[in-house]
Amino acid sequence: MNELPHRVKIVEVGPRDGLQNEARPVAIEDKLTLIEMLSSAGLRHIEAGAFVNPAWVPQMADSGELFHRLRRDPAVSYSALTPNLKGFERALEAGVSEVAVFAAASETFSQKNTNCSISQSLARFEPVMEAAANTGIAVRGYVSCVAGCPYEGEVPVASVVEVARRLADMGCYEISLGDTIGVGTAAHFRRLLEAVGAELAMEILAVHCHDTYGQALTNIYASMQMGVAVVDSSVAGLGGCPYAEGASGNVASEDVVYLLQGLGIECGVELDALIAAGNFISQRLGRPSQSRVARARSGVAS
Ligand code: HMG
Ligand code: MG
Repeated sequence: MNELPHRVKIVEVGPRDGLQNEARPVAIEDKLTLIEMLSSAGLRHIEAGAFVNPAWVPQMADSGELFHRLRRDPAVSYSALTPNLKGFERALEAGVSEVAVFAAASETFSQKNTNCSISQSLARFEPVMEAAANTGIAVRGYVSCVAGCPYEGEVPVASVVEVARRLADMGCYEISLGDTIGVGTAAHFRRLLEAVGAELAMEILAVHCHDTYGQALTNIYASMQMGVAVVDSSVAGLGGCPYAEGASGNVASEDVVYLLQGLGIECGVELDALIAAGNFISQRLGRPSQSRVARARSGVAS
């Protein structure tokens, strides 16, 4: 087991992973305000949208307009999901700072989420990687279902290692390991990181924990003990995945920041400003924040 990292990079995925799952349309003005509040709170990596098929995820259909209208902080990297070359071209036109491709460690989830097999999805990324290299855009890679699949149940660690390695080999600078349905425990994350870490440098790994079973903070702590220093989180614990029924939002960013501050780990985020951003979007969505820290600090009973 390693020492805990001195600094952790938080990748804020709320505006994408969070809002993609909302059944009712969210006003673009509210998305823009949220993203601007997040950058003001000190977040430097914000996944702001997705250039996917709008028929599949209608909530992300306005990503082009959103990127055009966004008042950008030059210190912030604003990224978006791009499942194929068409998505990448739309993202480039919108002026994204970086993009992310996403594959799954489970065949059924791959089919449900991207309408193709794992190997077909990886083949679709090749032209994206080439176009990204030609235009100087960095590409992040996601592996979904690293601890379990909503359709297949258990997912072998070897499948996760294989997809993570393929994404790294094709040039993804960072690999985010997604527990899409939040079933993993600390023991699973340790086993997983041992296996993935045997193939890839720990510095390029991120953990992306949905909190469905309430294990996310524990899994993040266990992952940091293994040397992981990049954590994905979602303000107010927004979200889920439209192709993983029952999956709750990612771990709340406020709760991650509270944990990191308590451990003396730098992350550059101002907690009160982050809570304000989470409370703003929760109020616009008409429901309480899923962040325990935000609820405690805002006097809302859990
Ligand atoms: P498809 O329907 O198989 O694509 O979708 P196709 O190539 O057959 O094209 C069909 C139509 O879609 C065509 O239009 C294309 O132009 C259009 P038509 O000729 O019929 O008018 N199209 C597009 N339009 C806009 N942007 C595009 C695009 N691509 C094709 N990029 C595809 C394949 C992958 C595009 C589709 O399945 C899709 O969009 N899936 C995305 C699903 C998604 O966004 N899921 C949520 C994000 S992943 C996630 O949440 C997990 C993560 O958080 C990590 C974790 O938690 O595990 C990242
Ligand atoms: Mg996710």
